Amino acid sequence: MIEISNVTKEYVEGNKALRNVSITIEDGEFVFIMGRNGSGKTTIFKLLMKEEELTSGRIVVNDMNLGKMPRSYVPKYRRRLGVVFQDFRLLKDLTVYENVAFAQRVVGASNRRIRESVPAMLQMVGLSSKYKMYPHQLSGGEQQRVAIARALINRPEVLLADEPTGNLDSHNAMEIMKLLEEINGMGTTVIVVTHSHEIVEKMHKRVIYMERGCVVGDETAFDPAEEEEDMTEGGEFYED
Ligand SMILES: Nc1ncnc2c1ncn2[C@@H]1O[C@H](COP(=O)(O)OP(=O)(O)OP(=O)(O)O)[C@@H](O)[C@H]1O
Ligand SMILES: [Mg+2]
Repeated sequence: MIEISNVTKEYVEGNKALRNVSITIEDGEFVFIMGRNGSGKTTIFKLLMKEEELTSGRIVVNDMNLGKMPRSYVPKYRRRLGVVFQDFRLLKDLTVYENVAFAQRVVGASNRRIRESVPAMLQMVGLSSKYKMYPHQLSGGEQQRVAIARALINRPEVLLADEPTGNLDSHNAMEIMKLLEEINGMGTTVIVVTHSHEIVEKMHKRVIYMERGCVVGDETAFDPAEEEEDMTEGGEFYED
């Protein structure tokens, strides 16, 4: 569970990027965060990653109080998170395979483990046939799949995706969202920042709205299938 309680963040004194933000996200949830430029979305991710420190408040991720976490534990903590950015951030001199394998090497995985898990992950994101290619030989959507494979290879508990489809057309954006949904179905908590109303409308997930550093809306997931069921049940009242 992620508990963000009364969090305020001032990068510069007197200028609040987050104002008294409280958000609780349960294990296995899929959540969108929306809001204008500068509303504080990326700041939430930076605090969750412990890339920045909060000014006041408390963040607890899976029972770990980030404010009390020793510096020495931070790298280990970060391995429990997967992060995907809008601009992919792939290593351009490495192949698709090596980009994903690299993320495992840095955490000390054995060669044997890498040889097993990287092909499986590439298959999951639909890139098995492109494993020898370099990032510049891939389309934007394919590059983003590599970035997702890399973020997931160490089996993170939480996936943070900051505008992962910002550079993609709406077809590819939906394909990436379907992939994130699949990953979520396997148990990973997924938090996605997006500016796309189209995506949010199609996905029927919880949406948190930010405005000038505050949470101004939090809509729970809407499942059209359940709605339909309700209507069928209601139908029993009608005689034909
Ligand atoms: N390193 C920093 N130093 C000072 N101010 C910062 C820093 N990073 C962010 N800010 C400020 O904090 C506020 C929130 O920024 P943040 O990046 O969280 O917004 P965002 O919602 O992710 O915006 P966008 O949609 O443009 O990515 C902005 O006013 C920004 O100028
Ligand atoms: Mg941002």
